[in-house]
Amino acid sequence: MDKILIEGGYPLSGEVKVSGAKNAALPILAACLLTQGNSVIHNVPSLRDIDTIKRIMTLLGVEFGQQGHTLAVNTENVQHHVAPYELVKTMRASILLLGPLVAKLGKAKISLPGGCAIGARPINLHLKALASMGADMYLDRGYINAKARRLKGIEIFLDVPTVTGTENIMMAATLAEGTTVIKNAAKEPEVQDLAYFLRSMGASITGEGTDTIVVEGVKELRPSEHNVIPDRIEAGTFLIAAAMCAGDVLIKNCKPEHLTAVIEKVESAGATVGVHLDYITVQGPEKIDSVDIKTMPYPGFPTDLQAQFMAFMCIADGWSMIRETIFENRFIHVSELRRLGAQIEINGAQALVRGQKQLLAAPVMATDLRASACLILAGLVARGGLTEVHRIYHLDRGYEALEQKFQKLGAKIWREKS
Ligand code: EPU
Repeated sequence: MDKILIEGGYPLSGEVKVSGAKNAALPILAACLLTQGNSVIHNVPSLRDIDTIKRIMTLLGVEFGQQGHTLAVNTENVQHHVAPYELVKTMRASILLLGPLVAKLGKAKISLPGGCAIGARPINLHLKALASMGADMYLDRGYINAKARRLKGIEIFLDVPTVTGTENIMMAATLAEGTTVIKNAAKEPEVQDLAYFLRSMGASITGEGTDTIVVEGVKELRPSEHNVIPDRIEAGTFLIAAAMCAGDVLIKNCKPEHLTAVIEKVESAGATVGVHLDYITVQGPEKIDSVDIKTMPYPGFPTDLQAQFMAFMCIADGWSMIRETIFENRFIHVSELRRLGAQIEINGAQALVRGQKQLLAAPVMATDLRASACLILAGLVARGGLTEVHRIYHLDRGYEALEQKFQKLGAKIWREKS
């Protein structure tokens, strides 16, 4: 298994370009199943999760062409409807294939995603919505089986504004008979990007980015072309890293408006942030002030940056309270941060971080995607030797060439293959 080695203590400076958003590209690729023909998707990041969805879609009969970050997606010959356990178990977002398959083929058989390191992660709201839309659903030997003639539009209130749940329902509703109203819908930019793509395919959708999305079903959709939005979580990771490492960094190809809550917190910690149309400049402070955060659905502080912000607060001056409200087990990085000398107390969904003058290099283990990024950030400031981050296959699921991007900014970081 590969590991990442970091000699911490070097300031970051220069420019870094953000890749396309994983969590937008995944539903957009799944949405190509709603039509027959060739769609073209630009700015698709090169990641293991993208490879996984391509592998499953290839089993369904989809053909892919690729040039750099542009994917040609040919859905002319989609005949199969099974997403197998072996692949779904490596990526929960495979559930995004459920809505498009039922809506277009009238059937789907998808391995039920299990929990993951950060929580139980149920999909009851996806299943309940599709069943209310008329899909006949049952669980057999670990697979969700769904069948429907033509789904029917309904009014749905989501108990929680689930991101992939909103996306699944929105995709299914595009080809349903009648109008679907999704109340308490997720407002994340990735949901909005999917809505733009679906609209370019001929779907009738309004309200994305608000908590009520209305979809008027149409008979068919046409192939389309789309440019995936930049990854706000990757941009936020660089923003926090630059603020931690006394950096002077320009983060290119991002949408600062997607990071308002994060920018506000990084500024409160003392960094100087310049917001421009499609780039951000960050200068790290000499002294980092402690700041409290609470994760919330968009536009609140994203759970996917909680671990990275915690690494930041580990070297702040004072105490910081970090509250996780989205996932019940998203503090697994805490015990690894403690190995670097961090002082953190956990009490339920709250972590109290007592900032230290220094973190000390040590071997640590990544436990999930965002925890990997958190440990790399901590390694960039840890002194006294090399920080080794093990199990970085988690990192490769969602960050494109992260260590190379940090190298370009002057960090002493490299990958050791084994
Ligand atoms: N929930 C339910 N029932 C459901 C669905 C969700 O109770 O049917 C609960 C979850 O247990 C959780 C909350 O709702 O407490 C929010 O979960 P959500 O469904 O929004 O998460 P998701 O759609 O599975 C996406 C991202 C995650 C990101 C979350 C929250 C993708 C592919 N994944 O997951 O990304 O953390 O939204 O913003 O879009 C990551 O990229 O590292 C990652 C985990």
